[in-house]
Amino acid sequence: MCQCSRNPYLTDSPFWIQQEYRAFECDDIQSFHRSIPGYQPTPLVRLPALAERLGVAELSIKDESHRLGLKAFKAMGASYAIYRFIKQRWERQLGVQFEAANLFDPGAISQLDLRPFCTATDGNHGRAVAWFSRLTGQRAVIYIPTGTVRARIDNIRGEGAQVTVIDGDYDETVRRMATDAERNGWHVISDTSYPGYTQIPAWIMAGYTTMFREITEARLMSGHRHHFTHVFVQAGVGSFAASAAWYYTHQDCRPNLVAVEPTQADCLMASIRHGDGQPQVSRGNSQTIMAGLNCGTPSLIAWPLIRDSYSLFLTISDDYVKKAMRQYYYPEGADSRIISGESGAAGLAAVLALLENKNLIRAKQDLNLNSDSRVLLFNTEGDTDPENFATIVN
Ligand SMILES: Cc1ncc(COP(=O)(O)O)c(C=O)c1O
Repeated sequence: MCQCSRNPYLTDSPFWIQQEYRAFECDDIQSFHRSIPGYQPTPLVRLPALAERLGVAELSIKDESHRLGLKAFKAMGASYAIYRFIKQRWERQLGVQFEAANLFDPGAISQLDLRPFCTATDGNHGRAVAWFSRLTGQRAVIYIPTGTVRARIDNIRGEGAQVTVIDGDYDETVRRMATDAERNGWHVISDTSYPGYTQIPAWIMAGYTTMFREITEARLMSGHRHHFTHVFVQAGVGSFAASAAWYYTHQDCRPNLVAVEPTQADCLMASIRHGDGQPQVSRGNSQTIMAGLNCGTPSLIAWPLIRDSYSLFLTISDDYVKKAMRQYYYPEGADSRIISGESGAAGLAAVLALLENKNLIRAKQDLNLNSDSRVLLFNTEGDTDPENFATIVN
């Protein structure tokens, strides 16, 4: 089942004053990412044949399955937050300016006597924290909810991290991780924020903006003068969606933003519908194959950015996501093949739902989704669960 909600809080000129959002204004975000060994912008892939079939002018996909060998976009946030954390420690403790080159010199960083980095994760963010901890010579402890598939756990362990499985869902895993981190003095690198914990998630959201800058640069380099009219962003706790909100509301031509969630993990939709403008917990049963989007509560500092800037909130069923994964894998005409995992395909699933589902005709009209539309989607992950991926596409 798919549902949608228009946004009564949408505003033309959002105004966000919380000091955490200054992280978005830092001028070292993209240059930091460029300094990571192996960094390359991920491809922006056009699917003209599918666009024609769906009746839109353009369909472009930012393909994060190619990101730094990790098959997901999460590396952009975790790496920037760890960099900023170490930089802050260095400058406070040693009283001299931190150079990004020091980051990959474990000898230099060992002066700081850091404790392990830790986080709760449904897979991708934890892998990214583990990976960047290894690159910087640090230890990582990663908490995951029970039921996380073997391949995702193995990928985290493959980065040398200690993995702790919690008998509970994602929200319970976050709580347990925060308690244990406090007790052990670990450094929490969480992509969701909660009361009293905001700075690191703000750096993570700021780190994601490199993706949007890469898109703008790729458009300029390929000579495209047209702006995107619609940007679909899949959401779990909403840090990625909030980052898109910040970036695209600061552009001259502001596109329609659409937030996409699983029907059974709909914390943004629940929050928008609740009526007091505050974040609310999901009303679903958390049964979904979209592991990366299976979160019960919006991130505290992400929520205001999303509330003020998204035109539409849409929930989609697992069936639509499977269909979208197969659509990417068996492309239309001469379009390129894209390897898209369960959470990665959610944006295309939403477009398919809007264009095919009769219950959503009104939403499609409200959005002005038509033959003039230029649609941007994010394939936020590749086949991070190869077994399930093979079952679905075969
Ligand atoms: C593949 C994928 N896409 C999207 C998201 C959603 O990101 P956020 O939790 O910031 O909303 C996640 C989160 O883990 C993810 O793993």
